[in-house]
Amino acid sequence: MEKLNQRIEVMNHLALGMDGIVDKYLIPIETNWQPSDFLPDPSKDSFFDEVKELQQAARELPYDYWAVLIGDMITEEALPTYESSIMVVQGVDMINEPHGWARWTRAWTAEENRHGDLLNKYIYLSGRVNMKAVETSTQYLIADGFDIKTDDDPYKTFVYTSFQELATNISHRRTGALAKKHGNASLSKMCAMIAADEMRHHKAYKSFITSIFELDPSDMMVAFADMMKQKIVMPAHFLRELNGEKGGIYGHFSDAAQRLGVYTGKDYIDILEILLNDWNISTMTGLNGAAEKAQDYLMRLPDRLTRLTERIKVPELEYKFSWVD
Ligand SMILES: [Fe+2]
Ligand SMILES: [Fe+2]
Repeated sequence: MEKLNQRIEVMNHLALGMDGIVDKYLIPIETNWQPSDFLPDPSKDSFFDEVKELQQAARELPYDYWAVLIGDMITEEALPTYESSIMVVQGVDMINEPHGWARWTRAWTAEENRHGDLLNKYIYLSGRVNMKAVETSTQYLIADGFDIKTDDDPYKTFVYTSFQELATNISHRRTGALAKKHGNASLSKMCAMIAADEMRHHKAYKSFITSIFELDPSDMMVAFADMMKQKIVMPAHFLRELNGEKGGIYGHFSDAAQRLGVYTGKDYIDILEILLNDWNISTMTGLNGAAEKAQDYLMRLPDRLTRLTERIKVPELEYKFSWVD
């Protein structure tokens, strides 16, 4: 009970600065980009020519690339899962607190919603994809939810989102760079715009944890270590295809991402090191015994993970997804 109150107190304190947080990390809706800024306009005569051009450029992208782009898109489309999981976190009150954490959650969701929207329309127009199979996977993923083990703990939840927003920044950035390499400048631009959003979101969530460390360092340290002990599970880990088992194709999606170099085991370690560094974990003092142990665990983790990752081999064979013919 005492722990719960402390977390809610910390959250209420942070919520006092919510206007500043929203202004600093989110872009006003009036000036923000929208998916249609980057897509052919169906109300124009040039629409069909532009779609033809888009489809021609799409032909240059290899099989694994489609698997990864579609998997990324489905992950974005499962946004209802992410919004609802943050709304139930301690200190977030959707009903009684319209100007605090619920406001952040809604405004963040509203920015995120553009990502799946843009990728979905691009993928649909590309003509390369079995759209019904993709949509079926999306419906499954939203229905299946996820199990990221953050409970309703704001400390664990914001560690997860700090990590995950940077992971998505990396993967969208790399799919963008690869699109450029294959001569697809417009897709490259779309991915870059999404990646830039993810970076702002990453910085926002990271700043929440920085503030929590100032207010409640020992519990924050323990929560960070707990999250890393159980590993940061990707939000698409329940990914499946029609009539497939829950989570049945997540491994294939992740293998494709590793083969392409879009998101690898090394990236996981790099993100961890960035967080350790930005939150000044190694030099933090004034911790209780449990927190000192957690700090020690965290500081040793990158080396341990590096040794483990070196031993893992990524399968070379492409898996045949129902999404792409
Ligand atoms: Fe996103
Ligand atoms: Fe995101």
